[in-house]
Amino acid sequence: MAAPNTTANIPAGKRPTAILHRTPWVPPVAASAEGIYITLENGRKVIDAVGGAAVSCVGHRHPKVLQAIKDQVDKVSYVYNMQLSNQPAEELAKRLIVTSNGAFELCGFVSGGTEAMESVMKLAIQYYGEIGQPKRVNFIARRLSFHGNSLSTLSLAYHPTRRAPYAQQLNTTNFYHVSPAYAKRFQKPDETEEQYVERLRQELEDTFIALGPDTVIGFVAETVVGATTGVVPAPKGYFKAMKSVCDKYGALFILDEVMSGMGRMGTLHAWQSFGDGVAPDIQAVAKGLGGGYATIGAFLMSKKVADGLRAGSGFFKHGHTYQGQPLACAAALAVQEVIESENLLENIRVQGAYLESLLQKGLRGPNALAAPYTFDIRGGGGFWAVEFDFSDAANLDFKGIAFAMRVQAHALEHSLVVMGMTGGSNLEGTKGDHIILAPAYTVTKEEIEKIAAMFVQSVEEVLRECSI
Ligand SMILES: Cc1ncc(COP(=O)(O)O)c(C=O)c1O
Repeated sequence: MAAPNTTANIPAGKRPTAILHRTPWVPPVAASAEGIYITLENGRKVIDAVGGAAVSCVGHRHPKVLQAIKDQVDKVSYVYNMQLSNQPAEELAKRLIVTSNGAFELCGFVSGGTEAMESVMKLAIQYYGEIGQPKRVNFIARRLSFHGNSLSTLSLAYHPTRRAPYAQQLNTTNFYHVSPAYAKRFQKPDETEEQYVERLRQELEDTFIALGPDTVIGFVAETVVGATTGVVPAPKGYFKAMKSVCDKYGALFILDEVMSGMGRMGTLHAWQSFGDGVAPDIQAVAKGLGGGYATIGAFLMSKKVADGLRAGSGFFKHGHTYQGQPLACAAALAVQEVIESENLLENIRVQGAYLESLLQKGLRGPNALAAPYTFDIRGGGGFWAVEFDFSDAANLDFKGIAFAMRVQAHALEHSLVVMGMTGGSNLEGTKGDHIILAPAYTVTKEEIEKIAAMFVQSVEEVLRECSI
């Protein structure tokens, strides 16, 4: 089956630009922003219903974050981490460790999600080198996952369309993949949730055994799968089961919370609410850490991993020029303080649940135009997705352009930013339309109502435009 055309003719921006953009169309330019509103260069005000890419968590121009950045600029803007540390980096690290309630003992900072996952892999490799198990060279991750856009993180993850252009360069000798934990698509009709989890656990154990259990570094998963399949939480008991396999064979249990972490699911860490409460040995976070005010990611490690390194070299044999950058750390520290002091996790849990109820009503309620095609509405906290399915839709013609991308473009033209994604509904990456909503944790009830109404309207207008 051919992959859906995700891009053609959307929207035909003609603005001249010297940037090699990552979209075939030229995106409009943001000129200013406040809260969840962004004003474009042409003066049009749009609502960002997805926080960019689930990044902006305290909204734009939060006064406390702005002040923290300004204060830090006045103190020190840069030091190189192999010569000097800095106060905001030390404070931010302390905060991440203290708020983990014992789950993590040490952490480090990088510039984003891909670097965080690269660091996670190198940390895990170093750990086994230092504790005298250098034979461990293999990672096991999952199909339909995303862990970053570098060649190593593309090798680790399995996002069919993002891997495709680099297939020849990807490492296939140290990275292996097991099934996604995606009940709505892959649980068998005659299987209970428990049996489904057991099947996935067995598959992981079989993969360990096939590779040689003492060659496996760890199992790596997004706690809630983000952009690949559209906010897919695992079935209950899944992470507990997967961790039990890692523990049995002395491997590491590793979570990627770049997208789902730092409050996005309504708890500071997604595993606290959507991962059976099972803390990982190593974790990556990024987007919600700096909330868009800074390019920052972090890797967090448990006492077990920290002790392994302390008993060995005692330092991380990996790093970057901008690791622990003071302005980025000051911004992230302020973002995290705002989340706590303004009780934003509680707010996003409440507003997120309200968004879900409005989506259910608007997309699946009586006489809802989208009802026959709304396959699933799922998520939690401030991270929601609607998955559409047009398998039986003979009355619609999308003219070769994926529905999700049509809705994204249509919504933007009508002043709503949402994220359309394709290819998450089958293992080949050739089927699936889902749209992600991930507003800032500061979002109000009225803003949620606007977002839901505008989104449902966009979906319906695209359906009408494409009906034959
Ligand atoms: C789960 C996950 N891991 C890693 C990344 C890569 O992060 P970045 O784009 O900041 O490099 C992303 C980005 O979307 C992500 O969703």
